[in-house]
Amino acid sequence: MSRSAHPAGPRYADVLPEGHYSPPPADLNALDPKVWARTVTRDEDGVVTVGGIAVTELAERFGTPAYVLDEADFRARARAWRTAFGNDADVFYAGKAFLSRAVVRWLDEEGLNLDVCSGTELATALSAGMPAERIAFHGNNKSETEIHRAVEAGVGRIVLDSFQEIVRVAHIAQSLGKRQKAQIRITVGVEAHTHEFIATAHEDQKFGIPLAGGQAAEAVRRALQLDGIELIGIHSHIGSQIFDMSGFEVAAHRVVRLLKEIRDEHGIELPEIDLGGGLGIAYTSDDDPREPHEIAKALNEIVTRECEAARLRTPRISVEPGRAVVGPTAFTLYEVGTIKPLEGLRTYVSVDGGMSDNIRTALYDAEYSVALVSRASDAAPMLVRVVGKHCESGDIVVKDAFLPADLAPGDLIAVPATGAYCRSMASNYNHALRPPVVAVADGEARVIVRRETEEDLLRLDVG
Ligand code: LLP
Repeated sequence: MSRSAHPAGPRYADVLPEGHYSPPPADLNALDPKVWARTVTRDEDGVVTVGGIAVTELAERFGTPAYVLDEADFRARARAWRTAFGNDADVFYAGKAFLSRAVVRWLDEEGLNLDVCSGTELATALSAGMPAERIAFHGNNKSETEIHRAVEAGVGRIVLDSFQEIVRVAHIAQSLGKRQKAQIRITVGVEAHTHEFIATAHEDQKFGIPLAGGQAAEAVRRALQLDGIELIGIHSHIGSQIFDMSGFEVAAHRVVRLLKEIRDEHGIELPEIDLGGGLGIAYTSDDDPREPHEIAKALNEIVTRECEAARLRTPRISVEPGRAVVGPTAFTLYEVGTIKPLEGLRTYVSVDGGMSDNIRTALYDAEYSVALVSRASDAAPMLVRVVGKHCESGDIVVKDAFLPADLAPGDLIAVPATGAYCRSMASNYNHALRPPVVAVADGEARVIVRRETEEDLLRLDVG
């Protein structure tokens, strides 16, 4: 690795007026356990290790950029969710956050169920041996082929998202001589405190059937009339990266109110409710997420209280965390390329990836942290913007962060908390080859999703 010298970048206090920057952390070499995977630590030479392996070795063996996933941490978080909710509830990992066959096997071993939202996610889950009855199938526009495949495979539930889909699923199930277990996804009208693009329970968006105007009650009426459907419950997902439990409280209240209306009208008590996923994680030291046991306690209390008030038996609860399981367990490892100090502004640090491996900053204005990981440094903090190598000025990985002022091309830096929605939303923009996912555990590293190659891309281009 080359380590050429370069002029030190501007210092934060010189370039931003007071109050417009968070001060740099007291120790740039420290790794906040809130944002880094659990086995991440810095060894006595200053090199960061994960699962007992130095990042320098990982970069040499697998190249950069690479997503590095801490398997022990993933399993521990999955287990914590499972334990927190106990045997009277179900935890469905939301595969959209990150899905691979290795991950499916870990989830199966740790006793979690799986939520998929496309035929190909379903195929991935089945090919890794996840029992179909532990799979929930989601989506606002499932194709007939996808529904057919899911019903035929025997998925544990289909989450119905529209009036048309209720009929479609019933019809397909009947044609296969089956009765498909299903939930109806409703929108409860909650404004979740998160980015507009990832909030899903307000009415003016594409998911679910609104409670408002009696539409959800009408959907229940129709589903109950169809032989191909066994209606087992109501589903509500209010959004993603949420810290405030009050949105869940309102959602649970409204879902239970619907259960009561169903009981009063049809004389049946639906046995399950699903409160979705959406629990936030720490991307920077400023975020304070709740632990699974606190979330389980809060949700159980809310539902029990609401059901007691409505004189209903407490239904079986399920949840669908994606980000909160996998998000904190991985980081993206990059090699520093060009470093460009902009007089009076900030220093732009270019890495060998960018918006093709992490679109979240450009898309949601997401905040991330970053650290120099191939060595420790005592140099002063330098205000940086970490950018990628794509032909777009919005190609930003970390908007504002501090790295040591002696940062040099060839250094390795890592962006923590990239386990969720980074590989799964990665693209081939500028014909970038999507990075591998390398799982590390107990001093061993293995590729669980390999790096794309030029041949992979050229094979798709059939001339
Ligand atoms: N259940 C349903 C029905 C969902 O739609 C989602 C996420 C989840 C569960 C899992 O939510 P989580 O626990 O991971 O927050 N690409 C965005 C997030 C989109 C979330 C889509 N649905 C991001 O990068 O922030």
